[in-house]
Amino acid sequence: MRVAAFSAKAYDREFLDRANAGRHEMRFLEPRLSAETALLAAGFEAVCGFVNDQFEAGVIETLAKSGIRLITLRCAGYNNVDIDAANRHGITVLRVPGYSPYAVAEHTAGLMLALNRKLHRAYNRVRDGNFALEGLLGFDINGKTVGAIGTGRIGTVVCKILTGFGCKILAVDPFPNEARCSLNVRYVKPDELLAQSDMITLHCPLTRENKHMIDSATLRKMRDGVMLINTSRGALIDTLAIIEALKSGKIGALGLDVYEEEEQIFFEDRSGLIISDDVFSQLLTFPNVIITGHQAFFTREALENICGNNYREHLKIREWSCSG
Ligand code: NAI
Repeated sequence: MRVAAFSAKAYDREFLDRANAGRHEMRFLEPRLSAETALLAAGFEAVCGFVNDQFEAGVIETLAKSGIRLITLRCAGYNNVDIDAANRHGITVLRVPGYSPYAVAEHTAGLMLALNRKLHRAYNRVRDGNFALEGLLGFDINGKTVGAIGTGRIGTVVCKILTGFGCKILAVDPFPNEARCSLNVRYVKPDELLAQSDMITLHCPLTRENKHMIDSATLRKMRDGVMLINTSRGALIDTLAIIEALKSGKIGALGLDVYEEEEQIFFEDRSGLIISDDVFSQLLTFPNVIITGHQAFFTREALENICGNNYREHLKIREWSCSG
């Protein structure tokens, strides 16, 4: 099969080439897929894309006219794909669910630990010869209540890790999986989770229905000083509301691996450039905010699974009835 891989980085090429072993004719393209770049797929049969490639209706129409019959995603989330449009044009969409829930869950735990003990600040202080402890006071995670929104593959691993820390876990999920979660997990109504949790972590997909599920109204229901972690999708939270909550102290610490406008920022070296997104720039000014650039998935094992034999077992999203 002739495959055009968009948003391809050196690491994608390395892991895909190794897994492919010459079976498919791969063309690695640096640009993101968009209305402007979709024609680059002309002459190929399949397109391989990542989280910020825009598989919207117009792009899918262009791909279909170019002869594309298959879209393979190098990710689990598929909120960037217009599944209805793909169905209309007879294009099959594959994703990689569960390539490594451990990668994302461990990164989530890492953000929690770093935020709580202010490791990002401690690192800089010590390198600057400043060994003062003022401002670095944390809390014992043991015994704290964590709210997990979404207990699928990643959420379940997060619950297990946090159970190891001695946390009490409250969970919200339309499809509870109590058997898979550890004993300390109790499914509750969303308001109870918001009101009782010292730390809240998001592990649900982004859908049309839950965009900005964390907004000023839900923030008001949370404990003062709550820690909020989002390693799922940026648009699950209303960033402007989050900034107000950081300013008022409602949010005591914020860990983000995703941002709703991330496609304009992430995955590129912009260290010599001006960031024109004022909202993102403001987030960077808070000492109690840690942002990573959508790297939670980025482990060797995850890349091997994304690119490897698991491909054959990937779900055909077009057979599902859900949107997202
Ligand atoms: P999953 O499909 O195994 O689990 C998602 C869970 O969320 C399901 O149990 C579902 O019932 C639940 N859910 C759906 N809507 C909900 C809602 N409104 N409220 C509460 N729960 C809800 O998915 P998985 O593998 O655990 O991934 C979760 C998300 O993590 C993905 O959709 C993706 O957006 C994100 N992700 C982020 C990565 C990163 O590098 N930062 C890498 C991989 C995934």
